[in-house]
Amino acid sequence: MRRPLVMGNWKMHGTRASVRQLLQEITRAGEQMPADVAVCPAYVHLQQALQLCEGTSVSVGAQDCSHMAAGAFTGEVSAEMLLDLGCRWVILGHSERRQYHGESDDLVAAKLAAALQAGLQPVVCMGETREEREAGEAEYIVSRQLRGALQGQAGLKQVVVAYEPVWAIGTGLTASPEEAQDMHAFIRAQLGDIAGADPGTMRVLYGGSVKAANAAELFGQPDIDGALVGGASLDANEFRQIVDATGARR
Ligand code: 13P
Repeated sequence: MRRPLVMGNWKMHGTRASVRQLLQEITRAGEQMPADVAVCPAYVHLQQALQLCEGTSVSVGAQDCSHMAAGAFTGEVSAEMLLDLGCRWVILGHSERRQYHGESDDLVAAKLAAALQAGLQPVVCMGETREEREAGEAEYIVSRQLRGALQGQAGLKQVVVAYEPVWAIGTGLTASPEEAQDMHAFIRAQLGDIAGADPGTMRVLYGGSVKAANAAELFGQPDIDGALVGGASLDANEFRQIVDATGARR
């Protein structure tokens, strides 16, 4: 049985005060949660988040990392720096990075290699746009992004995959549980073809307008192992309800 994972991607939101308040509301010292739970604040808030999560079951990740290990790369943050700080996770290949920063499958693959090399647990994101879905290309795109990132890498069992249809991100539109399940089953089948991947144990998260009201239905699907949550993760009550909804996993 794969343990569910619920991860909050806070994107470029927050102040030191709001980070403190949100984490005080999300975490309870010593509490056992029904899922693995993580938050991914902006780089500048990582250290504070790590301090606030100490002694709780909430872990912390970053939203990106450099594809290089170290060197003259102004503005970049390496996977090793994140690990050294105490981060456990790193989100890679988010559609906003692909869209606004021109990240290619090759760059995502290089970042994945750097993260695995450093010992972080990467969450590799993929998903099609509305136009791609309407053109019947959704599986082709997701397969290309999955294989482009994972193929030929060592240590793939550490990897979490996040399926985030671009048309569902921040739009209030969610893939129906059946649509999401179909793509998750497809991803799991593809993982079976990638050397070193283990489709039985690797977690595949859904992302895109997940909220308390739709989480249980999504988590009731056999191949949906949790969620990567954007907007709703900035509301402690919503986020905790999403975590509790992992109880719908069979
Ligand atoms: P929303 O939950 O705001 O749609 O964002 C999803 C996302 O991009 C998580 O990485």
